[in-house]
Amino acid sequence: MEVIITADPSSASRVAARRIARLVRTKPDAVLGLATGSTPVGLYTELIRMHREEGLDFSSVRTFNLDEYLGLAPDYPASYHRFMEENFFRGVNIPRENILLPNGLASDVPAHCGAYEQEIREAGGIDLQILGIGSDGHIGFNEPGSSLASRTRIKTLTPSTRQDNARFFNKPEDVPYHVITMGIGTIMESRSIVLLAFGAGKSMAVAGAVEGALSASNPASILQLHPDAKIYLDEHASSDLKRVDYYKWVFQNKPAWQADS
Ligand code: F6R
Repeated sequence: MEVIITADPSSASRVAARRIARLVRTKPDAVLGLATGSTPVGLYTELIRMHREEGLDFSSVRTFNLDEYLGLAPDYPASYHRFMEENFFRGVNIPRENILLPNGLASDVPAHCGAYEQEIREAGGIDLQILGIGSDGHIGFNEPGSSLASRTRIKTLTPSTRQDNARFFNKPEDVPYHVITMGIGTIMESRSIVLLAFGAGKSMAVAGAVEGALSASNPASILQLHPDAKIYLDEHASSDLKRVDYYKWVFQNKPAWQADS
């Protein structure tokens, strides 16, 4: 696990975008796992800029999103289909047929989840998974207590996550109770992980994930077992970490041969 602390979210997003761009340049048919929410918006904006100004080519990239609300149609304003369209897909050149999100209107949810896992396997697995983190430590919508070996499935949101996400809906009561999410086992099979967290509201969850005990009570703590997980933070999100000075020292003193993080 590598912790990268930058002054503000836009610097962290730029550093993380460089990492993703490097993957796409070296492996043009890379499979990306994508997240929604406020956190990755700056990262997507930077990738769009790189596409427009630096010719970063996504034409062979495939994508799988982490999650979608159950019961929301793709064109519903707060759906994750719509979020991705507005914040990323419309700005880059990923072919439509290469984009997959869980279907919030699936009639047979277990069958749909099994098929989603199968699609990921057939694509050769996810090369790099982008993650945010909930203030309760969730990744995807794997709430505290989720099996650390879970696969794509239905989950019930906690009241605090419904409250956190109410800002995307007209009324708090419009937030669905159920979601389809990749499981923690699914996420852990990604070859690389890029987790971003910004703001003081994430600092406790980040400290638990990075320096706390491995536990389903903080699902993100499973990333301690991942061989290539990078955690990009702003100062606020890092404020409850004990080893901040060490993480900063590591980042500033990398051997020259180590690639750009
Ligand atoms: C979204 C997702 C969630 C969010 C998390 C943080 O696809 O999987 O885990 O990353 O809820 O959300 P924000 O970024 O809005 O604070």
